[in-house]
Amino acid sequence: MTFRPGDTVGFVGWRGMVGSVLMHRMEEEGDFAGITPVFFSTSNAGGEAPSFRGVEEPGVLHDAYDLKALARLPIIVTTQGGDYTQKIHPELRARGWNGLWIDAASTLRMKDDAVIVLDPVNRDVIDQGLERGIKDFVGGNCTVSCLLMGLGGLFRQGLVEWTTAMTYQAASGGGARHMREVLKGFRDISGSVAAELEDPASAILEIDRKVLDFQRSDRLDVAEFGAPLAGSLIPWIDADLGNGQSKEEWKADAETNKILGLDGADRVIMDGLCVRIAAMRSHSQALTLKLTEDIPVEEIERIIDQDNEWSKVVPNTKEDTVRDLTPVAASGTLTIPVGRIRKLAMGPEYISAFTVGDQLLWGAAEPVRRMLKIATGSTEI
Ligand code: HSE
Repeated sequence: MTFRPGDTVGFVGWRGMVGSVLMHRMEEEGDFAGITPVFFSTSNAGGEAPSFRGVEEPGVLHDAYDLKALARLPIIVTTQGGDYTQKIHPELRARGWNGLWIDAASTLRMKDDAVIVLDPVNRDVIDQGLERGIKDFVGGNCTVSCLLMGLGGLFRQGLVEWTTAMTYQAASGGGARHMREVLKGFRDISGSVAAELEDPASAILEIDRKVLDFQRSDRLDVAEFGAPLAGSLIPWIDADLGNGQSKEEWKADAETNKILGLDGADRVIMDGLCVRIAAMRSHSQALTLKLTEDIPVEEIERIIDQDNEWSKVVPNTKEDTVRDLTPVAASGTLTIPVGRIRKLAMGPEYISAFTVGDQLLWGAAEPVRRMLKIATGSTEI
């Protein structure tokens, strides 16, 4: 099967949170002009297909479980989630389907015959994969993708011996319902002390005690996160691997090295702790990097800034940091700010850095959108 501009592309999961961001970005970039989109649904087959800007004939929704219909497509893009991939992908391949599967879910990421896509960082790995006949292209873990969009230049120049990433991950990483739970949590907590908050003479320790009582009671809904997140944090994300590490923490080393195409002696060691905080949609990470050599901070900043058009060094001053290096500053943009870069007291090869990235853009939809452009032979992405 060969792929080219104008190809029919099947979209599954376009209505969900990542799917909606993907559709919006495709509208913004005029991507529908280069393809013939066909929309699938897991729940509303036969219904009216969505009419995104640039889609000439939306038609009707097709059944996302109809293997025959799916197998006719040269390219399928799915943001439906891991359960869908787990069910449909093996069945399609078992029928001999030879098309391109472009996916945002983690299910296939670490398979030998899948490439993790983040083209500003690993276009060479993607191109080699396409040449070798690889057919599964999967977006990376959001934290890993945002980290590499920011600091990939240091990794690709072989300047990193090891890294720790201590993360501050937004509610959106859990899903749309998780974001709502956090917001409702803040609302309900504030409501529990509304009268005291309005009274400047009320005692703050009394407010604090009431808030804590509320957070520990069953009046606070924690159905999605399993613990209070509003006004707190949760230092565990994803499954317990049974060795003290969370699956989210394991992904950092495994996926970073796979994205960069590093194996054996080249591997960069990565480990750290992943923490959920009550930010909305941007993940942040505090990094310690052990460099392979002592290079000046100015040179480090130059490498980061010039690596790709989205990484942006934030000067290590209080004023610049509080203005530009926060989830609120980064959300809704493709910019990946990298700041707090300085040499640490441990020695001249040790540096700190802090980076933030919109978890739904570079962390999810954007690498998938760009992979579709690459797959259909677009020269402009
Ligand atoms: N595992 C991520 C998180 C989601 O929970 O924040 C995006 O890969």
